[in-house]
Amino acid sequence: MPSNPKSIHSQSRSYELTPSGDRYFDGLAEKFSRSLYQAPRGELRLAMLDYLLPEMLNLEWQCVLDVGGGLGQQAAWFAERGHRVTMTEPSADMLSYAKNWHRNVKTLPEEAITYLQAPLQRLTEQAPGPWSLITCHAVLEWLGDPQAALATLSDLLAPGGQLSLMVFNRDALRFSNAVKGNLEKALSDRLAGKGKRQRLTPISPVSHAEIEQWSADNGLVIDAVAGIRVFQDFLRHPPATPAEIETLLALEKKYCRHDPHWRLGRYLLYTLTKPEIVE
Ligand SMILES: C[S@@+](CC[C@H](N)C(=O)[O-])C[C@H]1O[C@@H](n2cnc3c(N)ncnc32)[C@H](O)[C@@H]1O
Repeated sequence: MPSNPKSIHSQSRSYELTPSGDRYFDGLAEKFSRSLYQAPRGELRLAMLDYLLPEMLNLEWQCVLDVGGGLGQQAAWFAERGHRVTMTEPSADMLSYAKNWHRNVKTLPEEAITYLQAPLQRLTEQAPGPWSLITCHAVLEWLGDPQAALATLSDLLAPGGQLSLMVFNRDALRFSNAVKGNLEKALSDRLAGKGKRQRLTPISPVSHAEIEQWSADNGLVIDAVAGIRVFQDFLRHPPATPAEIETLLALEKKYCRHDPHWRLGRYLLYTLTKPEIVE
């Protein structure tokens, strides 16, 4: 059952936005798992995060707050590296999928992950921290008000803390629409999804200019940025052999932090830090 739906149709299940315009992934766990993480694009995303997070973050042992943790891959990644993780997620479906999966991962230390069913907007009450490390990957683009969400994440960060933020890149979405021949859509900038049915086109794709502005508004500093999946979506001939997949990964790694390539990553990955308080 969707949480806080605007409407529920009894015959055919309807997937609607919450009153604040967010898209919880209730009823989408299977589809999200199948279409992203059991597909080459999900594998590449995880491989790139595995490569980039140790480069972009200061990963001394510390507690991590994972916001909108989805199916739990990121929480597992941190837990396997010795971090204690609080994984938060408003969708009961996604959370139970993550818990079940974590239970079967033999390399996960017991009780390394604590689960909290809550939306980002409630975390200042339910998990106030302050946190030295927060991850919020691929969540802002599913919210009615991503700008307010970044302010909340900033409130949750401890002085000197780091936020690993990944957002669906609006500029790359325009480009990919043009490549697919959706020229009118690209020209009129009708890029956002509506969050209806089982569609996985984000409702609030975000641009780099917005992240720059919103970070500055909240006193956050952009320490590092990278593009995730810069090339993969535009290949006319997707890699067909393990060797070709390796070559694509090497290409993505080589240019993910180089201007201008990172700017067209399907996702933009940031490390934002909150400056220490200077007396
Ligand atoms: C595209 S998935 C990303 C999941 C995971 N972080 C990842 O990178 O695979 C977006 C997630 O955001 C969650 N979400 C939607 N609205 C939210 C909110 N207000 N607060 C926190 N998470 C939210 C959805 O339920 C969904 O699990």
